Amino acid sequence: MRIAIVGPGALGCLFATKLFSAAEHDSIVLIDHRPDRAESLNQQGIICQSESGSETFSVPVFHDLATLPAVDILFSCVKSYDLQQSISFVKPLLRPETLFIFLQNGISHLQYNDVEKLGAIPVFGTSSEGATRLGAGHIRHAGSGHTTLGFPKEQSKQTTDQLQRLLPLLQRSGFASSISKDIRARLWAKLFINVGINGLTAIENCSNGQLLKSDETRNKLTRLVREAEAVAIAQGITILEDPVAATLAVCKSTAKNISSMLQDVRSHRPTEIESINGAVSHIGKRLNIPTPENDALIAKIREISLYTKSR
Ligand code: PAF
Repeated sequence: MRIAIVGPGALGCLFATKLFSAAEHDSIVLIDHRPDRAESLNQQGIICQSESGSETFSVPVFHDLATLPAVDILFSCVKSYDLQQSISFVKPLLRPETLFIFLQNGISHLQYNDVEKLGAIPVFGTSSEGATRLGAGHIRHAGSGHTTLGFPKEQSKQTTDQLQRLLPLLQRSGFASSISKDIRARLWAKLFINVGINGLTAIENCSNGQLLKSDETRNKLTRLVREAEAVAIAQGITILEDPVAATLAVCKSTAKNISSMLQDVRSHRPTEIESINGAVSHIGKRLNIPTPENDALIAKIREISLYTKSR
């Protein structure tokens, strides 16, 4: 099985190093669109720090895709705002049978739901592995999570078997994983959590747990998530658990975490607001469901990320 992991961020490096240590070494490649960084990652290796210490893996990093054969499985770990460009970049690696696994936050990638659009078979995924980027090709694996994968549409037996065959490798690599028959419901369940935590921690400049400390932020979080829930219900999405209770529980269990959006704002990077709260607001408008709390948050994030960019 030939596997490519695209994007050397926190999740990409985590998947690359774990799969590299469990699979045939020559079957795993990491893809970086930046030639300079790919070269330095090849020299330095990918460093993964965890409770058990720090280990360096010589995962081969490629940027020139013309030199590579097509792959059976591709994990796309780029940020949601880089996805469109990344899909064009990785085209040489795709065949109509390739499983293209999307691991982005948010839901804007749900538009790539058929093989004609993508040039490969779309698989959507959500992962709660706790990985933080410490530097280029250097990550900390803070805690194990669960990875859920699923097809947006009914597939042939051959294709479902192909995804099924990936599970033992994921498990050998240390990823608890499963296949869901309703991956949309799973993605929305994760979306509710990101809707409630990410933008709010970014504007409050606080850790996830600090959102629980005042009634004001707790109530804001509740309104953000309830608006998203109303939009989901109007779209016919199955609600798997109470989204507000689930979001508050994640604030507690990741109390010390700095959310990915606050990290982005602090590092003057673009944020994923458009594919998280932005997607909720966009669908809400289409379905005539008001999302005032989300709209106000989006406006504030646009403001502070412009401000941090110009600093
Ligand atoms: O994006 C993030 O930071 C994470 O998905 C989460 C769950 C909010 C924890 O920080």
